[in-house]
Amino acid sequence: MLKLVRRIGLRNSFLTNKLRFSSAPLPEPVTNPEIKHTQIFINNEWCNSASNKTFETLNPATGQVIAEVQEGGKADVDRAVQAAHDAFKLGSPWRRMDASDRGVLLNKLADLIERDSCYLASLLTLDNGKTYSQSYAIEVPGCVKTLRYYAGFADKNHGKTIPADGDIFCYTRHEPVGVCGQIIPWNFPLMLLGWKIGPALALGNVVVIKPAEQTPLTTLYVAELCKEAGFPPGVVNVVPGFGPTAGGAIVDNPLVDKVSFTGSTEVGVQIQRNSSSTNLKRVTLELGGKSPNIVLKDVDMKFAVESSHQGLFFNQGQVCCAGSRSFVDASIYDEFVEKSSARAERRIVGDPFNPKTEQGPQIDETQLNKILGFVESGKKEGAKLVAGGKRIGSKGYYMQPTVFADVTDDMQIAKEEIFGPVQQILKFKDLDELIERANATPYGLAASIFTKDIESALYLVQGIRAGTVWVNCSNVLKSQTPFGGYKMSGFGRECGEYALQSYTEVKTVTIRSPMKNS
Ligand code: NAI
Ligand code: MG
Repeated sequence: MLKLVRRIGLRNSFLTNKLRFSSAPLPEPVTNPEIKHTQIFINNEWCNSASNKTFETLNPATGQVIAEVQEGGKADVDRAVQAAHDAFKLGSPWRRMDASDRGVLLNKLADLIERDSCYLASLLTLDNGKTYSQSYAIEVPGCVKTLRYYAGFADKNHGKTIPADGDIFCYTRHEPVGVCGQIIPWNFPLMLLGWKIGPALALGNVVVIKPAEQTPLTTLYVAELCKEAGFPPGVVNVVPGFGPTAGGAIVDNPLVDKVSFTGSTEVGVQIQRNSSSTNLKRVTLELGGKSPNIVLKDVDMKFAVESSHQGLFFNQGQVCCAGSRSFVDASIYDEFVEKSSARAERRIVGDPFNPKTEQGPQIDETQLNKILGFVESGKKEGAKLVAGGKRIGSKGYYMQPTVFADVTDDMQIAKEEIFGPVQQILKFKDLDELIERANATPYGLAASIFTKDIESALYLVQGIRAGTVWVNCSNVLKSQTPFGGYKMSGFGRECGEYALQSYTEVKTVTIRSPMKNS
């Protein structure tokens, strides 16, 4: 019976790994995982912060402290950057390593993460509050598969020979950028770690990672696995700490060649500005979104309601590409609202370790209060609250699955990223008007379209300005598929072959090559 329940729990999980994992039983979680690492990781060694300060990481399901973690500051970041810089010196073990062997190391790391997948998934659920089924079936494989994907590229990022004018022989070398500062948010700590270190390490870069202050524990554990896999000292460094201090020190350090950031648009803007004013670091940014979720009138209603529901509520709504503006054809609007509201009310919220749970707690009190503020604003501006709207209990940061109907484009809840389990349903009548409204946002991360009408789908695909458009699906993120934003959702692409570009410098080598007797 327990096995059956666990299978059902997995089936409810995210689309991405549905095929691979839906029939596999979910292994038992470790509900009280041992906390093995809480220090700073530099040069393959664990150390305390220079200031000796620590910060608490909480279990969002209870609000209780899990562990005290060393709080990295500027001195620690500078030391980590120096270690990375040294590891990158010409002639170092890392620079002399065969490219194919970098691939071997990445595959080894992937194997170790897979070996410890139950432990890591449990640790992630404890630190983040996301369901264990999701931690196990999405985050761990999301990281592992990306490491393996890029392992294969380690010895394939080659340059070109160029038929340049004149008596010259010209070729390009694809070289690593150097020291990469990688700043990670709390919503997908493990998957995004794979997205960042996979391409960086495959191509011979060195990294200083700052995990989010809310979720440092899994990154720190993976640091130990990097050492076990055999990465030389200084290649991977992890400095836990806060954004303005530890994150800011990465951005300000002139020995850092590139920053890759995922998080809020506000901080992204600041990072680009500060990266320019120090040493013109290369910057890639994956920021916020307010993605349209478009439902045309010919859809299978049950499928469209369920997909739109998952597209928004997945991961407690804490997803940059969440379909947070559902535009529904006027002729099916009322039925869609009624069924979406009923579905939200059926959503099972509770203990993230329980396999039946669909929705765990929000990450922290700040985010929960931000979401509740949006709910108040929606009500005040005249949207119709048709499900939820309140906090659940007072222990942990649980929020009712919430649905607003009669939402109009000018409302704050239709314009700003809520990053919580709050669905907005808007009405449309005409495709051209819809494209304009869908694009009337500073964001451009993703969009979903639900229809059986291929011509309308392709017309919308062309019209919508976003880095990803899903047709009859949502939130499908794969190691092989590039992901990133238009407009203020950022720039650069993660995953897929496109991500290689942002970890590569192209060197043109031109050699005088006179013809005999010329
Ligand atoms: P944030 O952008 O402040 O945090 C993301 C990461 O950036 C964390 O590691 C943080 O420590 C770091 N950071 C913060 N300030 C920094 C600075 N000045 N310099 C360098 N690094 C810095 O986001 P936060 O406060 O966690 O969430 C606020 C909102 O941001 C959310 O409500 C959501 O709207 C959005 N967000 C978007 C994410 C995405 O996936 N694109 C992920 C997390 C948050
Ligand atoms: Mg935590």
